[in-house]
Amino acid sequence: MMRSARRLATLAHAGATLFAALVAALLVACDDPSLDRLLDALPDEAPGFPPGEVHRPGQPCVACHSPYGGVEPELSVGGTVFAVPKDDSEAPFMLEGYAVRLVDSEGETRVLRTNRCGNFLSKKADWDPAFPLRAELYQVPRDDQPDVLVQDSVMASRIGRDGSCAGCHIHPKSPFSPGVVEALKVDASVEPPNDCPPPWLGPDPRLPEISAQ
Ligand code: HEC
Ligand code: HEC
Repeated sequence: MMRSARRLATLAHAGATLFAALVAALLVACDDPSLDRLLDALPDEAPGFPPGEVHRPGQPCVACHSPYGGVEPELSVGGTVFAVPKDDSEAPFMLEGYAVRLVDSEGETRVLRTNRCGNFLSKKADWDPAFPLRAELYQVPRDDQPDVLVQDSVMASRIGRDGSCAGCHIHPKSPFSPGVVEALKVDASVEPPNDCPPPWLGPDPRLPEISAQ
């Protein structure tokens, strides 16, 4: 009797210790230094643009709009489509009316349109895709035929788990970044949009660490 009670107490103690260790491990696992560094690198809200569909173009939307970032609504995917002028002296600018086609690992497909400041998003409540995702970019050539899509470019690899395009696509293009999400077939007459926040164009917070190596 005594012995089994003691054994029980020992077991309970071991259980509590194990539980504490598990909680500690979980807390450590929840800390994401590279995501923290990315979040720290982001500028403040642009004055005159309250948080909403057109805010923070070029930034990693889901880094904030996630349980980790703590911002509602939770987004499953979000990003910005850019035109990159051939002349490198000019900055990339955001493109309205492009279509981002995403296909999840079960074949579920969404076509998301970029708004007047180039942003697109899906709320997690509307679509909770099964990663990995395939991403494709399309032009929508005519306002009166919104369902006609003309293929522009395709991401060859798959998006493993980060719904933020700008988790990887950070300006400038480097051995460590594919650059902004870029539409390739942009008519030369297309101009930067009016009345949008300035896009986040880096610097890429991963670069100093990389070049220090
Ligand atoms: C640095 C953090 C951060 C980033 C990055 C960010 N947001 Fe937000 N966003 C916020 C905050 C904070 C709010 C305000 C939430 C509130 O009012 O409760 C907000 C609000 C919004 C809203 C309005 C939600 C509503 O219900 O009114 C939308 C839509 C939105 N963001 C889309 C985006 C998109 C698209 C991107 C990427 C291009 C993005 N956000 C990037 C922090 C961020
Ligand atoms: C995990 C990192 C990562 C994420 C997240 C990511 N991409 Fe990519 N993307 C890449 C890399 C690397 C390339 C270049 C190689 C390739 O095509 O696979 C690329 C290439 C592309 C291209 C082709 C570009 C060209 O010049 O032909 C498109 C389009 C694209 N991505 C769209 C997106 C969109 C839209 C999102 C967000 C929904 C996204 N990507 C999220 C890493 C990423």
